[in-house]
Amino acid sequence: MNRQKRLKQVFFYAALTIFCHVNLVDNLYSQHPADVSLKEAFKHDFLIGTALSTRQIDGRNKAETQLIKANFDAVTPENLMKAHALQPRWGQFNFEQADEFVAFAASNQMKVNGHTLIWHSQLPGFMQHMENADSVRQYFVGHIRTVASRYDGKVDSWDVVNEALNEDGTLRNSIFLRALGEDYIVEAFRLAQEAAPNTKLYYNDYNIEQPSKRAGAIALIKKIQAAGVRIDGVGIQGHWHVGRVPMEYIEQSIQEFAALGLEVMFTELDLSVLPNPLRGNSAELSQTEQYNKRLNPYTDGLPDSVAEAQAEDYGKLFGLFLKYREDVSRVTFWGVYDGGSWLNNWPVRGRTNYPLVFDRELKPKPAFHRIIAAKYDQE
Ligand code: XIL
Repeated sequence: MNRQKRLKQVFFYAALTIFCHVNLVDNLYSQHPADVSLKEAFKHDFLIGTALSTRQIDGRNKAETQLIKANFDAVTPENLMKAHALQPRWGQFNFEQADEFVAFAASNQMKVNGHTLIWHSQLPGFMQHMENADSVRQYFVGHIRTVASRYDGKVDSWDVVNEALNEDGTLRNSIFLRALGEDYIVEAFRLAQEAAPNTKLYYNDYNIEQPSKRAGAIALIKKIQAAGVRIDGVGIQGHWHVGRVPMEYIEQSIQEFAALGLEVMFTELDLSVLPNPLRGNSAELSQTEQYNKRLNPYTDGLPDSVAEAQAEDYGKLFGLFLKYREDVSRVTFWGVYDGGSWLNNWPVRGRTNYPLVFDRELKPKPAFHRIIAAKYDQE
């Protein structure tokens, strides 16, 4: 072999070695990049959302804003697009905060899910004791038309109707059912479709993964579809408890809702670590110290064992979401970090709960890492 040929060979192997090394490192990196954020990890799978308040979009808390921008590509207003906020007095709308919210999302390339047009709760004061059917109808039509048309093309989707079902799958006895009758849900979607032709329209509820309530939701969706009215997706809220996440029902629900041709979303995900006093005998409730300790056991911090159990549940859930990544279009956490969660004040005021994946110092919890691992370990 002459010298030139040899040199060429050496160069060739050197180049090959460098190429392989770079590729290997690159591959390893793409398998588990350090410091990857939630939205980066799942960017090819589904949107990752959070619920925000006005305070969280004013940018005053720099660390929190940074965390929000890094991790989420979808946002739901936690309260500020509910009816009491948008229409505080009959026919008088206040869009200021909602407009700011939409602008915040647009400037950060985040999708907005409007929440919510028709819901029995957080209604304007003037509607709370309204029983006159004509007045209820006037409000119903006016609210949907005004709000949905104003934000058409500005929000990506609306939870058109929220929480219309009882646990047994029948319709909740709400002001809308009493005044407008059983067809009010189809009517709400019809009005939203007319007012917001460019906006996705969703039905949203809690516990609809449970068989009876799920059957009610499926009947409702089929009724909307049979009327020739558009419904694009269904939101399973996902307010569950550590150690009691109904994985099998959730899987069945994804399959059954997707079979109706709908997007499936998890829209208000949080995993409480505290006992629910609404379960069990409320007659036993007494305000003793012992009772308080039982209801609010982790005021000094979350024990590692509970954080671990929560991480396991979150990891399994995201494994399931990934298995159905073709059907699941968004997973939204109900809040950003433990300290800001509504579950510190519901169903009991003033407790210390830990339901989310960032802690009170905004640091990622074991649950965060397990969610990321669910992504990179499966591939
Ligand atoms: C909750 C908010 O998080 C609280 O701040 C507010 O006080 C009450 O409402 N289901 C829903 C959400 O659809 O709108 C609720 O949000 C939580 C339950």
